[in-house]
Amino acid sequence: MSALSHRPSDPIVGQPVPHESARLHVTGQALYTDDIAARTPEVLTAWPVQSPHPHARVRTVDTAAALAIPGVVRVLTGADVPGINDCGGRGDEPLFPSEAMFHGHAVAWVLAEDQHTARAAAGAVAVDYEVLPSLVSVRDAIAAGSFQGTPKTVSRGDAQAALATAHRVFTGVTEFSGQEHFYLETQAALATVDEGGQLFVQSSTQHPSETQEILAHVLNRPHHEVTVQSLRMGGGFGGKEMQSHGFAAIAALGTLLTGRPVRVRLNRTLDMTMTGKRHGFHTTWEAGFAEDGMLLALKAQLTSDGGWCLDLSEAVLARALCHVDNAYFIPNVDVQGRVARTNKTSQTAFRGFGGPQGMLLIEDILGRSAPLLGLAPEQLRRKNFYREGQSTPYGMPVRHAKRIATVWDQVLERSDFATRRNEIDAFNTSHTDQKRGLSITPVKFGISFNFVAFNQAGALVHVYKDGSVLINHGGTEMGQGLHTKMLQVAATALGVPLDSVRLAPTRTDKVPNTSATAASSGSDLNGGAVKNACEQIVERLSVVAGGMLGASAHDVRISHGTVTALGVKNKSFPFSEVVSVAYLQRVQLWAAGFYRTEGLHWNAETMQGEPFKYFACGAAVAEVEVDGFTGTYTQRRVDIVHDAGDSLSPIVDIGQIEGGYVQGAGWLTLEDLRWDEGTGPTRGRLLTQSASTYKLPSFSEMPEIFNVHLLEHAQEEGAVYGSKAVGEPPFMLAFSVREALRAAVAAFGPKGHSVTLASPATPEAVFWAVQESHEAATAARISAIVEP
Ligand code: MTE
Ligand code: MOS
Repeated sequence: MSALSHRPSDPIVGQPVPHESARLHVTGQALYTDDIAARTPEVLTAWPVQSPHPHARVRTVDTAAALAIPGVVRVLTGADVPGINDCGGRGDEPLFPSEAMFHGHAVAWVLAEDQHTARAAAGAVAVDYEVLPSLVSVRDAIAAGSFQGTPKTVSRGDAQAALATAHRVFTGVTEFSGQEHFYLETQAALATVDEGGQLFVQSSTQHPSETQEILAHVLNRPHHEVTVQSLRMGGGFGGKEMQSHGFAAIAALGTLLTGRPVRVRLNRTLDMTMTGKRHGFHTTWEAGFAEDGMLLALKAQLTSDGGWCLDLSEAVLARALCHVDNAYFIPNVDVQGRVARTNKTSQTAFRGFGGPQGMLLIEDILGRSAPLLGLAPEQLRRKNFYREGQSTPYGMPVRHAKRIATVWDQVLERSDFATRRNEIDAFNTSHTDQKRGLSITPVKFGISFNFVAFNQAGALVHVYKDGSVLINHGGTEMGQGLHTKMLQVAATALGVPLDSVRLAPTRTDKVPNTSATAASSGSDLNGGAVKNACEQIVERLSVVAGGMLGASAHDVRISHGTVTALGVKNKSFPFSEVVSVAYLQRVQLWAAGFYRTEGLHWNAETMQGEPFKYFACGAAVAEVEVDGFTGTYTQRRVDIVHDAGDSLSPIVDIGQIEGGYVQGAGWLTLEDLRWDEGTGPTRGRLLTQSASTYKLPSFSEMPEIFNVHLLEHAQEEGAVYGSKAVGEPPFMLAFSVREALRAAVAAFGPKGHSVTLASPATPEAVFWAVQESHEAATAARISAIVEP
């Protein structure tokens, strides 16, 4: 067992404790960035001037009328930027664009005494636009050859040759849409500047260090003059990994120019029309199978809809390409990916980061192919699972491949799959207008950032003279429970009770040069760093305690706040007493910790290597009932077995699995982003701008029965206290509901009918798929009559 994964006896990790801020969340006492803004005297509010065209040159910006409105303090334009006019990481994302690249793009910002005035004044800024041609769908972009970034290919073997000799070859086009993050807290930032010119920016960001770097280059200042704090987020889901930087930059620039605190807080419409979303994809594919249903080859072209600039699109695409295999061994692979440039918001990270998009492709292929191969979908899936010794198309061995089958078999049993399959068949035989579907799908998701350098983290742990502990780490809290886990890690590593550890907000002046809290790796990375810092302190305290107990430092044990030594009976000291003796002996009571994930390598050119420390697995069984007249459906029951390693915090992890599943089900069944693709005056406008037109999962769409089980005895050698990352992988368990819908729709058709289902599989999409099933059934009846 590795030192990293080893748990002491009686650890605080693994205990089912509530989220560290649960009480504050539910009582409304938890503060978010804009709550602090509301308590800041003299604060100015910023409001954007948005382009009414999807693509237009900005000829002139006339601010006179806006400035004449009482309460307006300043209008920020590109001329105000002292450094580099760019708020992204790629140099293609001007903070103040000279060309508006999408409908809603901010071309200038008004600063005023209050939001009402700022908003009114933004409407009074006169912008002269020269309208340019625009591309607002990925199909149009493909037709026009509009791409950005570097195309990437993952390949192994000879897909073309294997397709030529395969027993069956199926081809198709699979298109699926993006997703709005719809975090409850919209993007927010608050900037202040002190007497020495030091900037302090509070930002609702998943990546404070990058916010700091971008502010520094926009403002032309060294990094040490900019401090960024992320107190907590009301959800991020990837949408605050990059997209928060520009808003923080506006607040920072505004405060430098006016000397007053400046806040940016988007309302929902602004947030939806200005910020990037999950990438929708257009894919074309060919899949070859052997006679027994074994996958032989996959050839595919994936085109993601990147929107107007690159943002994280290339990295999202890379992760998509690394997840087209999901849990299946495909010997011959040729999967190409490219990013389309369209006149839309710049699409970005979203839970799963391309993984869901890659996996949707293979799950769609298997779901469509199974009936054509004469196999039940669960048979086809199961027989293609990775086996021990096999590796992924990008050259990574699939260690513990058996775990995929383990979670699968467990959830089959826990869900009573076989019995219910018979019951559902009976139901479908006796009902003509309602049909039920039952489906099981697996998830295998790689954990670590593909870009190796990001896999590092830092922490700062202070033990005060009274024995109380304050920890700081580089990760941000967005509701996922990272802080809860870090408190548990610190309490375990120091051997103190949970309530003697406190956590301070994430700030770049406490832990520098951090990575985004993303790729689900927050607890792996920061947990490693917190543990490392605590262990340095324990090592020093053990020397002191050894002296107090008359034992060797090596034999000292600290657990739940009591210090003892092996072989020393009837003698112990409270942690606080050892701490105060250590202080008097001038022993350092605090430490900076560091962690880097070992054993990773990745070649981004060849798309080969071992980019992941391990894989997280899960499997889900979903049952739905579809109404044939309307296409509406309910999720009758969902069962999940998920592998979170030996969980650091079981309540938190179960919450992540439930939330991930529901968010995934939202993407796949309800959430339908639409842009105006017409040629009228509102071309390019996001049509689904609020919760009234953009349907989110709510209580009424929850599965009626929802069982989530953590895989037991699941220790992971390569991660802190034997745990596994859990933030993103469960999102993809929702493929089970899409496949269950496919099964229910198929039941309206003839035997062996292959169902093509749009994504999202909204009731409308299901309705049309049911119509196709009916038509196929009719056609089958007619041909049975014609050729008896
Ligand atoms: N859970 C909640 N409640 N809110 C969030 O914003 N973001 C998800 C996931 N779970 C998110 C969440 C995403 S996209 C990621 S990458 C991980 O949490 C990040 O946190 P972790 O690395 O600590 O798991
Ligand atoms: Mo998550 S999409 O990696 O922030």
